[in-house]
Amino acid sequence: MKGLLTFQQVEDLDAESRYLVHKAKEAAQHAYAPYSKFYVGTAILLEDDILVIGNNQENVAYPLSMCAERVALYTAASSHPDKKLKKMAVVAHKKNQKELTPITPCGGCRQVMLEYETAQKKPIQIVMLTEGSGWIILPSVSFLLPYSFNQENLI
Ligand code: THU
Repeated sequence: MKGLLTFQQVEDLDAESRYLVHKAKEAAQHAYAPYSKFYVGTAILLEDDILVIGNNQENVAYPLSMCAERVALYTAASSHPDKKLKKMAVVAHKKNQKELTPITPCGGCRQVMLEYETAQKKPIQIVMLTEGSGWIILPSVSFLLPYSFNQENLI
């Protein structure tokens, strides 16, 4: 994939991405995930270096639960509606595990990420730990969601 950056270890990432990974890890520690015991954290860097974090919030009525990415995205969009999203990191760990486990955003979150990327007319970079390729930085949400349903379909 052209434009995608891969790194073997987190230390190899640029300082900004490492900072976001660190903040996403902190956020994951405060996830409310008593049912899945899968703790996800997201850190989003906005224009003007504003940081917004999110973590997954579960509910005993399972479908009411919300992914970390959307908690962070909706916080960013509601608290800082005029600021563009520059980069987001997503990490996860399992119960009683210090090590991060690979995660990439679920399909629903990809659609929501694409919404904001399209609206702001500027790509959002995504930092994450993948199953096979180590740490990757995607240059745009469109890499996560090709053949997407988007605003142009409505015209
Ligand atoms: N989860 C996220 O927060 N983000 C994802 O991209 C995938 C899944 C959460 C939802 C649920 O609380 C738990 O992880 C297990 O699916």
